Amino acid sequence: MAEVTPRAGHPPSSWSDIPWDLAGLVLRLLPAYADRARFAAVCPQWRATARQLALPPPLPLLALPDGTFYSLPYGKPFRFPGFGCAGFKSAACGSWLIFPRDDGCYLVDPFAHATVALPPLSRVRLRPPNAVAKFVDHGNGTRIDYPYTTWMHIKDQADVPTLNKLILCSPNLVAAFVGNGRTSQILMCQPGASSWSVRAYEECKMFEDMSFYQGKLYAITVDENLLVVNISQDPSTGDPQVSRVGQVIKGDPWYPVFYANKTTDEKKLYLVESHGTLLMVRRKVWCILLEDGTVMALPGQNEFEVFQADLEHSRWVNVTTLGDDQVIFLGRRCSRAVSASQYGMSGDQIFFLDDVMENALDYFFDGESTSVGVYDMRTSEISSPLPMVWMHEMIHATWLFPRD
Ligand SMILES: *[C@@H]1O[C@H](CO)[C@@H](O)[C@H](O)[C@H]1NC(C)=O
Ligand SMILES: *[C@@H]1O[C@H](CO)[C@@H](O)[C@H](O)[C@H]1NC(C)=O
Ligand SMILES: *[C@@H]1O[C@H](CO)[C@@H](O)[C@H](O)[C@H]1NC(C)=O
Ligand SMILES: *[C@@H]1O[C@H](CO)[C@@H](O)[C@H](O)[C@H]1NC(C)=O
Repeated sequence: MAEVTPRAGHPPSSWSDIPWDLAGLVLRLLPAYADRARFAAVCPQWRATARQLALPPPLPLLALPDGTFYSLPYGKPFRFPGFGCAGFKSAACGSWLIFPRDDGCYLVDPFAHATVALPPLSRVRLRPPNAVAKFVDHGNGTRIDYPYTTWMHIKDQADVPTLNKLILCSPNLVAAFVGNGRTSQILMCQPGASSWSVRAYEECKMFEDMSFYQGKLYAITVDENLLVVNISQDPSTGDPQVSRVGQVIKGDPWYPVFYANKTTDEKKLYLVESHGTLLMVRRKVWCILLEDGTVMALPGQNEFEVFQADLEHSRWVNVTTLGDDQVIFLGRRCSRAVSASQYGMSGDQIFFLDDVMENALDYFFDGESTSVGVYDMRTSEISSPLPMVWMHEMIHATWLFPRD
């Protein structure tokens, strides 16, 4: 070691003289994406080193719609060199940001400088293609109204529904759940296609989250039912389409209650894969009923319960730990579990955002107190270990995971 430690007054003639294996050891200790980016910017040799090493993925970035990013664990804004990211609308799961465009939207991966074009949400191909109305016509003069809401109802109410979540499941498959108010439906398309596809008469659900887990698309509804979405190919165009939505776990409906002290516990559900299992995180956000009848989240007052999907027995199983090595980053747009030890962090923690699902605002966050919180599964305590520089914008903030 002594040989490679530069003596005072005798620095190595160039950074690139530092042996690459030593540089690699240093790099391994830097969990922040910002550090990795700076490391790679030192010289071509270091960039090559960074590429060659099988490093654990860096910590996620927190992305704000004004184009500011925070590279965890730092509280200082990070800018992508030579890359304007302001104006993204939201984020898709993983490394993608969603930008609006006149005739649709496109995804941008600021890490790899890759883009993917998507059709506009106003262009949705119906299945069956001749779906025209909100009733079944038996052809004998009897028309029966659908007893539930379908895409045809949503379409009637708003030309362009709100995008709640978008997942790039594979290079050929993009799934989104979009809605109007609390009702939502799943759309599918192939990147670059001219339209999305939807099952016109499928019952709309109140989806809370969606996850691509072990090659299948799962969605969870507000009453904690876990659904699996079967996907097939349109025989004529080859485009992906939903062939069937089936229930795999029946949940328990759960309704918020207003207590005598005017508080209520509103619920948010998230699906996240951890250690090869599919987890449902139930987050209770304590809220208070204000004089004017609106409901406001009480700053920092959150509770978490975690359940594992037991697909074999079709049930949710209560779990009290994520495991010593797991940390979950929870967000409306994207949630992920990562291994904590590789970053020297302590495990069994949930990082969460005061974010919202745009079209289902049951309560609001006070912009002055929105934040990133960390819930410790072992102590049930919440802390704010990160600098509180993220107020105001947090509601539309999102985690961005550098491409693995
Ligand atoms: C029309 O057809 C439907 C479905 O076959 C049947 O349920 C209904 O009774 C029929 N109505 C009349 C008026 O025949
Ligand atoms: C849907 O997927 C399930 C689980 O993979 C499978 O058992 C079922 O046969 C599929 N149904 C259709 C209609 O594809
Ligand atoms: C309000 O009442 C509920 C139910 O008794 C309790 O759990 C909660 O802690 C109370 N909240 C406040 C802010 O007093
Ligand atoms: C989950 O298990 C823990 C420990 O056994 C218990 O305290 C908690 O109430 C359970 N939660 C649910 C929702 O069943």
